[in-house]
Amino acid sequence: MSILLASTDFWEDMEVWRSGLEEAMPEMDINVYPDEKDVNDVEYAVVWKHPRGILKKYPNLKAILSLGAGVDHVISDPDLPLGLPIVRLVDKKLTHEMILHSLHWVLHFHSDQYLYRIQQQSSEWIQQSSIQSEDRTIGIMGLGNIGKAIGNSLVNLDFKVIGWGARPKESLGSIEYYCGHEQLADFLSQTHILINVLPLTDNTKNILTKNELTFLPQGSFIINIGRGGIINENDLINFLDSGHIKAAALDVFEQEPLPENNSLWIHPSVYITPHIAGQSNPLSAAKTIAENIRLIQNGEAPYPIYSLDSGY
Ligand code: GLV
Repeated sequence: MSILLASTDFWEDMEVWRSGLEEAMPEMDINVYPDEKDVNDVEYAVVWKHPRGILKKYPNLKAILSLGAGVDHVISDPDLPLGLPIVRLVDKKLTHEMILHSLHWVLHFHSDQYLYRIQQQSSEWIQQSSIQSEDRTIGIMGLGNIGKAIGNSLVNLDFKVIGWGARPKESLGSIEYYCGHEQLADFLSQTHILINVLPLTDNTKNILTKNELTFLPQGSFIINIGRGGIINENDLINFLDSGHIKAAALDVFEQEPLPENNSLWIHPSVYITPHIAGQSNPLSAAKTIAENIRLIQNGEAPYPIYSLDSGY
C-alpha cells in the first residue's frame, strides 16, 4: 500500500511533503511521481497540478487528495479516473494565512494606505477623512470554511460583513447571507470591499463580468484570493480605468504565472501577488491529509469531499 505525491509546480518541494507525510504516516510507503515502485501498490494520490493523465495508471487508486484548498487543478485533468473521491485540503494554517492576507488588503484600502502612498510621491500632506469600520461593508463571495473564517475575523474588527454563495447556508452568525444569482446584484450593490474566495468551476467561471461589476458601488475595491477566471480580467481593467473600482489586490489570475506582457502588471490601481495568499504548510497539511487517508482506510468519509455543489 502506498501514497503517490505528484506535482508539476517546480516550487512545490516534494521532498518536504514526503518527509511530512512519512512523519504523519510512518506505516505508509510514500513515493514521488514518477518514481513509484509498483503502480498496483498506489492507493492514494496526493497532488498539486499533477501531470495530466497519469492517475489512470494506478488501478487500485482509492482517492485523490489535493495539496491545496482548491481542486480545479485536479478536475481540469481530462483523463481523470472516474468515481474516486476528490478531497480538498482544509487546514488551519492555510486558513490562517488567507485571513491574514485578506486583513492586510482590507486595512490597506479601508485606512486609505493606498492613497497615502500616492500622496507621499508628491510630498502631499492631506488627511483623508476616516470611515469607521462599522460603516464599511465587506462582501465575501464563497462562504466555505475559508470565507467564513475571514468573515468572522472581520466581524471581530467591527466591519459589516455580508456573504454570497450559490447554496442556502445556516448559522453564519453576524454575516448576512445572500444566495443564488437572483440575490447577487443586491449583495454587490452593498459591498464596499469585495473579497472573492470562490473556487473555479464551470458554474463560477466569469461569474463577475461587466454586467455584475456594475452593481458594485462607485469607488469600491476588490481582493481576489479565490481563482482567476472568476472575475473577467478585461472587464475588471475597464472598471479600474474608469475609477468605478478604485483598486484591486489580485493574488490569482486567468493565466499563471501572469504573463510578462499582461497589462495588469503595470496598472496603477492593481496590486499583484503571485498566488501566495494561502500557501499550504507541509507539516500541518501532511497531518490533515494523513487523517483523511486514515478515515478512508477505516471505511469513513474524508472531509471535505469535493462535489460540484460544495465549497460555496
Ligand atoms: C491555493 O490556491 C489552494 O488551492 O490551496
